[in-house]
Formats: sequence, structure tokens, C-alpha cells
Amino acid sequence: MRIGRVLSERGLLEITRCVLVGAVLLLSWNAMAATAGEIPKGDHGAATMEHQISELAKLLPAGDLRKAPPGFDPVVWDAFIPTDNVLTLDRVKLGHKLYFEKRLSADGTVACATCHDVTRGFTDQLAVSEGIKDQNGRRNAPTTLNVALLQTLFLDGRSPTLEHQARLPIVNPIEMGMPDGAAAVNAIGDDAEYQAAFRKAYGRPVNYEDIGRAIAAFERTLIFVDSPFRRFLAGDDGAISAEAKQGWVLFNEKGRCVTCHPINTSNPLGTDNRFHNIGVSARHQNFGVLARQGLSALQQDPSEQKLDELALSTDMSELGRFMVTKNRPDIGAFRTSLLLNIAITQPYMHDGSIETLWDVMDHYNKGGEPNLFLDGGIEPLALTEAEIDQLVEFLFTLTDERFARQNNRQRDRQREQARKERPLRDDDMAFRLKLAFEK
Ligand code: HEC
Ligand code: HEC
Repeated sequence: MRIGRVLSERGLLEITRCVLVGAVLLLSWNAMAATAGEIPKGDHGAATMEHQISELAKLLPAGDLRKAPPGFDPVVWDAFIPTDNVLTLDRVKLGHKLYFEKRLSADGTVACATCHDVTRGFTDQLAVSEGIKDQNGRRNAPTTLNVALLQTLFLDGRSPTLEHQARLPIVNPIEMGMPDGAAAVNAIGDDAEYQAAFRKAYGRPVNYEDIGRAIAAFERTLIFVDSPFRRFLAGDDGAISAEAKQGWVLFNEKGRCVTCHPINTSNPLGTDNRFHNIGVSARHQNFGVLARQGLSALQQDPSEQKLDELALSTDMSELGRFMVTKNRPDIGAFRTSLLLNIAITQPYMHDGSIETLWDVMDHYNKGGEPNLFLDGGIEPLALTEAEIDQLVEFLFTLTDERFARQNNRQRDRQREQARKERPLRDDDMAFRLKLAFEK
């Protein structure tokens, strides 16, 4: 009996020792990996939350995060901030904590930062996102960089504000999977740190609405618009290469990109904030059948939570804006993407179906994918290979300087990939040599 107890105490000590040694090894391995430039990985392939937090600290400017970012008119900036969620440091700090909080998910493995990862362009760089229990959605995660400047949120614009948007992933069954807002509040509500932080930020106990507000306040500090192209527009002629300048001319003229992606000093994002069918979904969907299905699903349950589920986990995702407006011209239409920081948020399009910027150019060059609802602005462009290279070079000048290294790495990687394979290239269509019925 006594011997048994001594043994089991010894055993316990031994186990504790092993666990401790293991933990120390793991920590030093992570530290080594970090110094060697490798990113320490956590759940679902995202960088660990600790690593992301330390990387973010290096990225954010030192000044007062509540003030208008450099180069922004303070009056215009203030107009972006809702009166019921004025930016304060306590709110931003709370939102920062919540953004990296895995306890807000049903299985404790997913935070906002899992799919909007600081080390991966504030997205996950996957075709479609992976949520709790490794479930895949249907849509590509857009970046959370510069979302403060958008007029609507989500790729179909179904959310009007950042405050509103932030509450939806928490209760989406395949993202963070909480049964309801109360469950999210319960998950962090016993934590004394959170209780104090909510009191300080909003003067109220932990509640679901303020979770959304605080995260929104934090997201408003993620302004990353300092690209070489912005310096070029401001008059620094040497900021971008001659090839990129040619690309900028093509962007405005022969490529016709500017009709949907306006980009200038007052609108640095490169989106018209409107919705167009450019034929991405048309590659693999029958819109007629889907639209009938969509209308009947929405009739059965018109709630915003249902719409969120249909968009993220069914084929109806491909209907895009139509599921929000039920207007025919919106079938297969998605919000014009931001072009700022485009180099570090691959793969591309709402379904992540296009791998490189060269492939994006091939898609446009052949006039998209023909379908009944194709936007009138999409038609064959007859761009030569040299012109495609120039346009792509221009797109690589839209990355914030703080991501310059990632930008260069992506340029090399994508160029290499494009040399191997150009799955969407179709010169017959691009130059109208042969039309579909002549093949
Ligand atoms: C499982 C992955 C996943 C998680 C977790 C997740 N997101 Fe997202 N996020 C996405 C996807 C996918 C979309 C696009 C969905 C759509 O458009 O229908 C998106 C869209 C967004 C957008 C809209 C961006 C735009 O361009 O309109 C914002 C903002 C955003 N997420 C913030 C958050 C916040 C804040 C959280 C945490 C509360 C969060 N996300 C959690 C995958 C995720
Ligand atoms: C008719 C409007 C329209 C025109 C013209 C247009 N675009 Fe787009 N662009 C869009 C829309 C809408 C999307 C998003 C489509 C989707 O997700 O399915 C998009 C997506 C993109 C993307 C991918 C963004 C991402 O994050 O996934 C890039 C890059 C892009 N466009 C560049 C260009 C370039 C370069 C041109 C000119 C050759 C151009 N666009 C012309 C509307 C347009």
C-alpha cells in the first residue's frame, strides 16, 4: 500500500517532469522557428495567436490609433465611425483581445485571426476557409485590412456595418459554431479580465452587441494603404517601375479595369463598392436551377442568420448578391474586390478558384465566362503577353510597404506558377480568332 503510493507519487513526479521538459522543448522550438523566419503554426494552419500578436505590434504605427491615419482627411475619417461606437483606446484594446480569442468558438480552436491571420495578409490564403471541426465553407476569406473603408461587408454585401458583421461568424455553424450570442457571452463572461475590460470600454457587463462593437473598433485600426503606387500618385515618379507605369495606363484604357476598380488618392481601395457578374461562378453553376432553389429557401426562412448559412455552406453561395436583393441582374454578382494589398491575399475571387494574378488576367482577357447575367463591362480585351505582364506588375505596386517582403516573395512564387501552367489562358477568345460556336 505504502510502496504503491510512493511508486505512484514517483510516477506522477516523472510524468510532471516529462510534461515540463516537453513544454520547454516546444517553447524553445517555437522560438527557434520564429528566429529562423519560420512561422510557428497553431490550429487550422494559422500562425499561433502569440506569434500573430507580436507580429501585429511590429506592423501598427506608433501614434494614436484613434486619430485619422496619415494622409486621411480627419473629417472624412470621422464620417466612417458610427456615433454609438466612437473610437477609444479601451475599445480598441478589448477588440484586439477578442480578435485573437479562440474561446469565442464552440470547440475552442477558431478565432477571427484563424481565417484573418496577421502573417497571411489578414486572410488564410486558402481557396475556401476552414472552421470548427475542419469544416470547409464555400467562400474565400477576404482580408480584414482596410475593411473600415468599405461601404458594405461580405462579398455579397449582406452586412451594413463592421459591428454587425463581426457577430455573424461567431454563430455560423461552420465558422466558430456558437449556438447563439448568449453562448459566446458565457464563454468569456466569467473571466475577470474581460469583465473589467467591457466595463472600461462600454460601461456595461460582457454582452454580445459590445463584442461586435469592440472588434469593429479594433478593425478600424487596420489601415494599410501606404503602397508604392500611392507615392507615385502623390508625385514620386520613381516609386514604381516603367513596366508598372505601362500597366497603369492599360488599367485605365485597353484593360478597362478602372470602370469597376476606380483607384485614386481619395479612393485608394480600388473598388466601386458595387456588384457585378464577371463570370466566375458561371464556370460551374446552373444559375436557373439555383435561383429557384434560393428563392424558396429564403421564403422558408428569411432570417439573416439563415442567409449567412446559405452563403457559406451551400451551392446557393454562387448566386452572390441575388440572395440579398432577389433582383435578377444580381445573379452571380459579387462586390468588386479591393485591389490594395492584392498581392498577399491569393488565391483570388469569391470562391478562391483563381490561383495567380496572371490567371486573373487570363480570365478578363478572354471576356470572362459567358452567361446570361454577365456584366456588360466584361468582354475580350486582346491583351498581349507583354501587356498582361505590365498589368500584373502594376498590381504588385498596390501592396503596403510594410508587406514589401511578402509582396516580393509572392511575385516570385506566382510568376513561377504561371510559367508552369496558365489554365484560363484562351487566345482564341481573347483575340476573337474563334468564337465558342466555331470550335
Ligand atoms: C472560418 C473562417 C472565418 C472565421 C473564423 C472568421 N471569418 Fe471573417 N470571413 C470569412 C469568409 C469566408 C468571409 C467571406 C464570407 C462572405 O462574403 O460571404 C469573411 C468575411 C469577413 C469580413 C468582410 C470583409 C469584406 O471584404 O467584406 C470581415 C470584416 C470579417 N470576415 C471579419 C471577421 C471577424 C471580425 C471574425 C471574428 C469574429 C471573423 N471574420 C471570423 C472567414 C472567416
Ligand atoms: C465589370 C466590372 C469589373 C471589371 C471591368 C474588372 N473587374 Fe476585377 N473584379 C470585379 C469583381 C466583381 C470581382 C470579384 C468577383 C468574384 O469574387 O467573383 C473582381 C475581382 C478582381 C480580382 C480578384 C480580387 C480578389 O481579391 O480575389 C482582381 C485581381 C481584379 N478583379 C483585377 C481586375 C483587373 C486587372 C481588371 C482589368 C483587366 C479588372 N479587374 C476588371 C469587377 C470588375
